[in-house]
Amino acid sequence: MSCQAWPEPIVRVQSLAESGLSSIPSRYIRPHSQRPSNTTSFPTPKPFQTDHHHGHDQKTSDHDHDHDHVNIPVIDLKHVFSEDPILREQVFGQVDQACREWGFFQVVNHGVSHELMKSSRELWREFFNQPLEMKEEYANSPTTYEGYGSRLGVQKGATLDWSDYFFLHYMPPSLRNQAKWPAFPESLRKVIAEYGEGVVKLGGRILKMMSINLGLKEDFLLNAFGGESEVGACLRVNFYPKCPQPDLTFGLSPHSDPGGMTILLPDDFVSGLQVRRGDEWITVKPVPNAFIINIGDQIQVLSNAIYKSVEHRVIVNSNKDRVSLALFYNPRSDLLIQPAKELVTEEKPALYSPMTYDEYRLYIRLNGPCGKAQVESLASQT
Ligand code: OGA
Ligand code: NI
Repeated sequence: MSCQAWPEPIVRVQSLAESGLSSIPSRYIRPHSQRPSNTTSFPTPKPFQTDHHHGHDQKTSDHDHDHDHVNIPVIDLKHVFSEDPILREQVFGQVDQACREWGFFQVVNHGVSHELMKSSRELWREFFNQPLEMKEEYANSPTTYEGYGSRLGVQKGATLDWSDYFFLHYMPPSLRNQAKWPAFPESLRKVIAEYGEGVVKLGGRILKMMSINLGLKEDFLLNAFGGESEVGACLRVNFYPKCPQPDLTFGLSPHSDPGGMTILLPDDFVSGLQVRRGDEWITVKPVPNAFIINIGDQIQVLSNAIYKSVEHRVIVNSNKDRVSLALFYNPRSDLLIQPAKELVTEEKPALYSPMTYDEYRLYIRLNGPCGKAQVESLASQT
């Protein structure tokens, strides 16, 4: 059912941007009602204090309307495995609250080396800054999406986003094919592998926390995803070129992530990610060396909507390119995903019928980013 080829010749957005044009082609221009106006941005808050001696500094949803302090929660994971049950519970509580109230949070002291984060981002930036011919060797198709790409969805005539990307698989091992990873810059393959290992490990820890927080066995979500050796993990490196008319387009249109959970390494200098909060879009201010975590549609389904995926989008700007690394932590693609039996009660019946992730992601692969339309359409079937 998936398409073999893109419906129109592919244009690399980076080449367009580098050609020095002063207005963007019409296929990138959103209709008036969908443009990135009406946005609100907030300054960076301090990280949560998990040390109970300083436990007063928890700025969360009570302050939503105090625009000076609103950002997604920042959680210090230092004490996740602490011997001290009070410290441990504090972190678990913060993660649970962030999952319930935001669906989006940043983590610091996450265990992944800051050097590795930095070199990964820099090497990917170098990859994108190579000549076009080098990158075209990795050009992708809509059958698997693996490789160098410039659109999501195959609808002819669709409005496109102002970004290019590189997509690759880490897990399951059967899909991991280093020959499809960039051979240049020279150390990139090695660094991609190390990065994947570190971030997948972090994902496992967070999944465990979420399972416990939902009142499930600690391995529940991991097992629902197929277990350690079968879980899916893939990386999309996004490159958002600077844009002469940033008010007319998006780097990435509003969407929720279709998979389980996303672990994002944002650009260290350029912001652009916005998270929907009611009718407002909050610009995330990345904390140095943090990862941004968000709930995807599959965890919304498994948790029977106790945790919800949250719509987000990326805006571009006219001064600076932006790079981000999104690691998607997903169920094995042929497993049926449905609400956990433990979370289905008479008062709260199952909101979603079972579906494999293969079936589920076809929708975004055909239609491109569509807000939360897909997971919402699932719910209305029952
Ligand atoms: C994504 C995504 C955000 C960003 O890749 O799904 O939402 O900041 N990326 O690039
Ligand atoms: Ni996303």
